[in-house]
Amino acid sequence: MPRENLERLAVFASGRGSNLEAIIAASEAGWLGMTIALVLSDVPGARALDLARSKGIPVETIPFDEAAGREAFGEALAGACKGHGVTVVALAGFMRILPESFLTQYPDRVFNIHPSLLPAFPGLHAQAQALDYGVKVTGCTVHLVDAGIDTGPVVMQAAVPVLPGDDVRTLSERILVQEHRLYPRVLSLWAAARIRIEDRRVWIDDAR
Ligand code: GRF
Repeated sequence: MPRENLERLAVFASGRGSNLEAIIAASEAGWLGMTIALVLSDVPGARALDLARSKGIPVETIPFDEAAGREAFGEALAGACKGHGVTVVALAGFMRILPESFLTQYPDRVFNIHPSLLPAFPGLHAQAQALDYGVKVTGCTVHLVDAGIDTGPVVMQAAVPVLPGDDVRTLSERILVQEHRLYPRVLSLWAAARIRIEDRRVWIDDAR
């Protein structure tokens, strides 16, 4: 059976969920190539959860519990994913670092989108970092998640110009347009088994 009939995606989001919206749109248009099996948030009331509910997608809310600690959080996330038969995970504005106890359950199967051309400007406020540095080109990156912060293998990137007079809002909006194109595209390539990972290097069979 081709992989697109098997893969079950979880999207993790802490907030607005515009990337989730783009992924749902690709699914509704029939080219995502996998089932969105779960939307998970650490923030009760996140807009992403409302969006998922409105589309009939199963949701889970797992707030971070300081007392229980990071590894217990990872185990809870993994438990929810396994419960929904999840095979691949897309972080889309998920504001928590994934613990080892989660990543070991999904090796090379967790994607993230970051609003800069990594390895430039990892971490928080990437658009502000780019403006403060004075770069002329920035963009967005889909990468695989490893134990570091925005350090995993780069899968695909899109460049975006920094224009005179840009502020964080205008630059973020311009980057977001590219995020919404890039992320569903990467996930559909994954679903079609057209992404191959060799150590840090990711090869994409984009020819078909
Ligand atoms: C995006 O800019 C993404 O690159 C970053 O967090 C933001 C999430 O936005 N990781 P949204 O919740 O998908 O609208």
